[in-house]
Amino acid sequence: MRIVVTGGAGFIGSNFIKYMLNKYPDYKITNIDKLTYAGNLANLTELKDNKNYTFLKADINDEKAMAKVTVDQDLIINFAAESHVDNSITSPKAFLETDVFGTFTLLEQARKNDIPFFQISTDEVYGQIREGSFTEKSRLNPRNPYSVAKLAAERLTHSYFTTYKLKTFITRGSNTFGPNQHTEKLIPRFITNLLTNKKVPVYGTGLNVRDWLYVFDHCSAIDTIFHNAKPGSLFNIGGGNERTNLWITKFILKELSHSNNMIEFVKDRPGHDFRYALDCQKIKDELGWQPESTFESSLKDTIKWYKKNTAWWQNG
Ligand SMILES: NC(=O)c1ccc[n+]([C@@H]2O[C@H](COP(=O)([O-])OP(=O)(O)OC[C@H]3O[C@@H](n4cnc5c(N)ncnc54)[C@H](O)[C@@H]3O)[C@@H](O)[C@H]2O)c1
Repeated sequence: MRIVVTGGAGFIGSNFIKYMLNKYPDYKITNIDKLTYAGNLANLTELKDNKNYTFLKADINDEKAMAKVTVDQDLIINFAAESHVDNSITSPKAFLETDVFGTFTLLEQARKNDIPFFQISTDEVYGQIREGSFTEKSRLNPRNPYSVAKLAAERLTHSYFTTYKLKTFITRGSNTFGPNQHTEKLIPRFITNLLTNKKVPVYGTGLNVRDWLYVFDHCSAIDTIFHNAKPGSLFNIGGGNERTNLWITKFILKELSHSNNMIEFVKDRPGHDFRYALDCQKIKDELGWQPESTFESSLKDTIKWYKKNTAWWQNG
């Protein structure tokens, strides 16, 4: 297969490219990334001599560049996005430009060349839930500019299936963690703060709940879906690991031999969703996919990765 991956210098995209070329060495992958502050080519150093991997620095909003790279391709997978909720609260414009209009630019190329299109969406499109969990049919109630932009992008994607019969796939993944994640996100931020003897800032009471998904499980779910699912389909992908932010914080503190005195409770983020929880029965029933990793050992592996790769996060 020839696959265009956008946002492949970021966290999940770079892990996905490495996962794919390792599993399918004959596939050809073109990575398109604008290299914003979140993109880091060091994530892909091991592929520099791989003939089946090509990198192009470009903005997904650049229609001409996208028209060129999408010729003779079998699939486009769109990871490119502004992805940090806090930034969407202070500067929402870039989120609409990349997450919504960028997705539109890619969808137009997919439509013109009849290339299947995979949109990586998020569980944040559901908004928060006090009890129970979201199925793919639950009401959508995004509550910050990031999740609203992601919802617009995935609904636009689905409209290309219903309107133009373009083959599309959509996933709503939960909070993903693992190697190569930017230090702006909770787990890497807390690990790297503690490795440099800085306190860890916990929003509000720390009792907000997220479902955590190891990045390699996120990658294997995407792989399973585009190889096996029906076009037009949409799946939740979760790790089945609901934890409060405080639980995660204390786990990291313990692993790095710090006391709870290193916790600094800070003013809560505006509109902070209290709890996300995903029902992932659909992907299990239809495609037989479920996460392979266990949460605590993946979290320990992630901590080890940041300990070992200090140059990556200190220079990146
Ligand atoms: N990280 C999570 O917990 C999570 C969970 C569910 C879904 N997602 C989605 O997965 C995708 C990847 O997330 P991530 O955590 O790897 O994000 P990331 O911020 O680490 O990476 C995003 C990448 O997109 C690139 N990019 C940004 N704007 C671009 C543009 N206009 N043109 C080309 N490239 C551009 C950046 O340079 C970066 O390499 C996003 O769409 C995100 O919404 C993330």
